[in-house]
Amino acid sequence: MSPVVSGPAIRVSTREDLRTQRRRRPQRCLGHLCVAPLWPMHGANLGTLLRTCDAAGACLAVPRLPWVPEALDRGNTLRRPACVHWVRGPLRWLDQQRAAGTRVLGVELAENAVRLADLPMARRPTVAVLGHERDGIPPEALDLLDAVVEIPMIGTGASLNVAVAGSLVLYKLAGFA
Ligand SMILES: C[S@@+](CC[C@H](N)C(=O)[O-])C[C@H]1O[C@@H](n2cnc3c(N)ncnc32)[C@H](O)[C@@H]1O
Repeated sequence: MSPVVSGPAIRVSTREDLRTQRRRRPQRCLGHLCVAPLWPMHGANLGTLLRTCDAAGACLAVPRLPWVPEALDRGNTLRRPACVHWVRGPLRWLDQQRAAGTRVLGVELAENAVRLADLPMARRPTVAVLGHERDGIPPEALDLLDAVVEIPMIGTGASLNVAVAGSLVLYKLAGFA
């Protein structure tokens, strides 16, 4: 009989452990890292992204569409919601971000894209732009991107869920992965 190999004893962190160990989130918006689903279709994806923003210390930029506030309220399971920026015109907003020195990074499957594994932690203010759930990033916004990152895929699906894609990229930009 082969001996039973045991790994290190695993103890799952309690809520109390997490409360004491975690770095405190800044009280105000530092505007360092932002994920921007600027052409959203499904409210559930916004709720998921809001939670990732909280975890990664990032902001969420969303368009001022009538259904978006309610979608965020419904998706918000946090005691304190992450920082939300309301965007009137996505193209103008992206232009303004670049003019202010923020790097505008598209998250899309594209030629000449950087692969996620090669994406360094964000060392300057960065906005990660996500596309529409069906149509992706609109062509007129592509000229406003400084660079594009793609998450390599195998399998039969054409793309990942937008909130999954945004969360993976945020974790890399935040230096957590
Ligand atoms: C469901 S996809 C959009 C559909 C896709 N562009 C198409 O035309 O088939 C929604 C968004 O998720 C992000 N996304 C999904 N999979 C991705 C991947 N593998 N790499 C980078 N971004 C991805 C992009 O922002 C994309 O615009």
